[in-house]
Amino acid sequence: MFIKITKKQFNKKNVWHPYTSMIKPLKCYSIKKAKGVVLKLFNNINLIDGMSSWWSCIHGYNNSILNKAIKTQIKKMSHIMFGGFYHKEALKLCNNLINITPKELKCVFLADSGSVAIEIAIKMSLQYWQSKGEYREKILTIKNGYHGDTFGAMSVCDPKNSMHNIYKKYLTKHIFAESPKCKFNENWDENDINSFKYLIKKYSKKIACVILEPIVQGAGGMKIYNPMYLKRVSELCKKYEILLILDEIATGFGRTGKLFAYEHSGIVPDILCLGKSLTGGYMTLSATITTKKISYIISNSKSGCFMHGPTFMGNPLACSIANANLEILNTNKWIKKVKYIENYFKKTLLPLIKSNKILDIRILGAISIIETINYIDINKIQRFFINNGVWIRPFGKLIYLMPPYIIKKTELNILINSLISLFK
Ligand SMILES: Cc1ncc(COP(=O)(O)O)c(C=O)c1O
Repeated sequence: MFIKITKKQFNKKNVWHPYTSMIKPLKCYSIKKAKGVVLKLFNNINLIDGMSSWWSCIHGYNNSILNKAIKTQIKKMSHIMFGGFYHKEALKLCNNLINITPKELKCVFLADSGSVAIEIAIKMSLQYWQSKGEYREKILTIKNGYHGDTFGAMSVCDPKNSMHNIYKKYLTKHIFAESPKCKFNENWDENDINSFKYLIKKYSKKIACVILEPIVQGAGGMKIYNPMYLKRVSELCKKYEILLILDEIATGFGRTGKLFAYEHSGIVPDILCLGKSLTGGYMTLSATITTKKISYIISNSKSGCFMHGPTFMGNPLACSIANANLEILNTNKWIKKVKYIENYFKKTLLPLIKSNKILDIRILGAISIIETINYIDINKIQRFFINNGVWIRPFGKLIYLMPPYIIKKTELNILINSLISLFK
């Protein structure tokens, strides 16, 4: 297969990578293995991981507990259809998720990725209203959001900072409130909720659900907003009896310093979407969790059921790793680690704000974001980071760090020093 061309050439010519051109692809590096927070490239260069493989690998790579879970499960059964069967690992996982989320959330729908969890949550809300005899097609969300790359998810991503422009003619048109301006630690300004309040009131009878990322908006702008905003959103949803979907796919499982970001606001969603670090970043799996009331109303519809059923729903391997992941989290050691990372980020990165290349620095939990004034040349900056022994992958004007929670001080220093030297 690789006789005439090298692996590098084959990759460039035949393999599509995320958000990349097949004509002028971004540079791609050959990786051999990963352990802890160290990524080993094919030429034996070691990189400290600052990305947790897009918010997912919270306990590091090649983790012995997660490895053991998958090895044990693979001997029993890698996969079995979920239609007509149940198994120990899926039941254990659903029970674990019910135990760590608000008591109102009791019914778990397992699926295969974050985007699919969003599709499921949207479909649940549409079917809920249909079952109640009302036709509601609109979704209210906020600008700068990101919820995935499938069609339903794309339709609620930020209209500018996303693929909206390319696909907008094919997407259902939804309602976008201004994104929150009030920052996490600032004094709450009641005016911040005005745009959302106006729109929810105006379209209340057309809106099936509200969807947003709690506290931290990810790929749509990497913004961290005031917990009071989310509290007001929840109150308004209750007032107008509109379902609230929280997308915790990126923020869930400790990343913001709380197990779930909605805890910063003390609110309870009607539907909760989880993914990414649900399996400690080992495998793709998602969960959409809702209340008994919503699931019963949906089940009372003409169809008599919720119309979704992915092939790999409840995959035993993924469920077993997710259970092992939750066991690690259950020890609560992550709380201290995430706090440590947050404090260290604050101490070392906040002084960079003096740089005339930086517009803003935002830090919460094990997340730090540097917003630059000018757009970043990704190929160039990636090379710079690799030469400095770190894996950091910026986009637009955003350079961000979200390392695995297990990162040690020396490793964190390598990551941070590479950023500091970039702005010297
Ligand atoms: C907040 C949020 N929602 C949904 C998704 C989509 O998840 P997936 O890539 O697993 O489909 C992402 C992915 O980055 C995300 O950050």
